[in-house]
Amino acid sequence: MDLFEHQAKELFAEYGVPVPAGKIATTPEEARAIAEEFAAAGTSRVVVKAQVKTGGRGKAGGVKLADSPADAEEKARQILGMDIKGHTVHKVLVEEASAIASEFYFSFLLDRANRTFLSICSVEGGMEIEEVAATKPEAVAQVPINALTGVDRAKAREIATAGRLPAEALDGAAELIERLWAAFVDEDATLVEVNPLILTADGQVKALDGKVTLDGNAAFRQPEHEALEDAASADPLEAKAKAKDLNYVKLDGSVGIIGNGAGLVMSTLDVVAYAGERYGGQKPANFLDIGGGASAEVMANGMEIVLGDPSVKSVFINVFGGITSGDAVANGIVQAVKLLGDRGETVDRPIVVRLDGNNAEEGRRILNEAAISVIEQVETMDEAARRAAELASQGV
Ligand SMILES: Nc1ncnc2c1ncn2[C@@H]1O[C@H](COP(=O)(O)OP(=O)(O)OP(=O)(O)O)[C@@H](O)[C@H]1O
Ligand SMILES: [Mg+2]
Repeated sequence: MDLFEHQAKELFAEYGVPVPAGKIATTPEEARAIAEEFAAAGTSRVVVKAQVKTGGRGKAGGVKLADSPADAEEKARQILGMDIKGHTVHKVLVEEASAIASEFYFSFLLDRANRTFLSICSVEGGMEIEEVAATKPEAVAQVPINALTGVDRAKAREIATAGRLPAEALDGAAELIERLWAAFVDEDATLVEVNPLILTADGQVKALDGKVTLDGNAAFRQPEHEALEDAASADPLEAKAKAKDLNYVKLDGSVGIIGNGAGLVMSTLDVVAYAGERYGGQKPANFLDIGGGASAEVMANGMEIVLGDPSVKSVFINVFGGITSGDAVANGIVQAVKLLGDRGETVDRPIVVRLDGNNAEEGRRILNEAAISVIEQVETMDEAARRAAELASQGV
């Protein structure tokens, strides 16, 4: 889960990382009121920043300096509602403007390729780090972190020094980096990025921007992370699937996919995309893994979610009987269609079923016997994918 900048900064503040004071506004009037509070406290210049979970906000015009509360209102009016790379701006962060002397770059991340944690630090900040790495690789330090020893003040200083931060920023940066490491570990993050990390005119080091990715796999031991979730911007079907404990990801195609096991579902997406090329570019409409024990209820829930998507024109149920045997899955599908009928949902789009593995034959027999008009069985995965794509291309 990615956090908004303001959430990242609130988290940083909890760990003692210096950040500019700021508040969230959802209307231009609120932005003005916040700027007025700052003005009353002696800070008349504020920055109005679009809160969207994508990069390059500044370049898109989503970060603007304001000289007065009236100006803050005007800038917020310009930014709210703006579209930044497909993300609509619903809220802005109004924060005190900092007097910037220099901008640096810093991040901790999980380096999967090298099976370690990595810190990246550079004296060149404020712009995209990929760009700096391409044009001035010598200015970007990459320091691996030993997961067992972590980052103490000395290690933090070593990282800042490797990034060629100036002498006057080293103490402040080392302290900040050490605290960011605590946040990174304690919150189970896979990314903590500060760009820019700044040195102010009066010698302070601060995090002026913040990007944090929290590891969803750690959700069970981070109950307070749930409150950080952005329910409003999540896909409604994804939210519904989550509530039913299903692994569902909405995609933008027309062939609904249901499978058991993440690996099988992933490869199903591939074969459907490949087969779909011959049918006007039909693509998978979703990823849905119903897991190992495909009970009728789980199958019904899955079918309800997939059929709840109006862009789905056909459904491909691809099940490999393993722990759950083919006959149980087939019974699950038959009962699921009944359950959906009872829930008042008519199954009105064609469903292609491919059953293989443990007790598949018995499963196929059960499905044949049930003679459900929308269900068609196909023996191989490739042929089933082709048929599902063909049906989707004929769908309305
Ligand atoms: N509080 C602030 N005071 C002064 N200047 C600021 C402040 N916040 C941001 N800026 C300036 O705006 C620039 C862009 O801000 P920021 O890094 O937050 O957004 P961005 O880099 O455009 O967005 P993203 O990180 O999503 O690509 C900073 O590099 C800095 O120069
Ligand atoms: Mg930035």
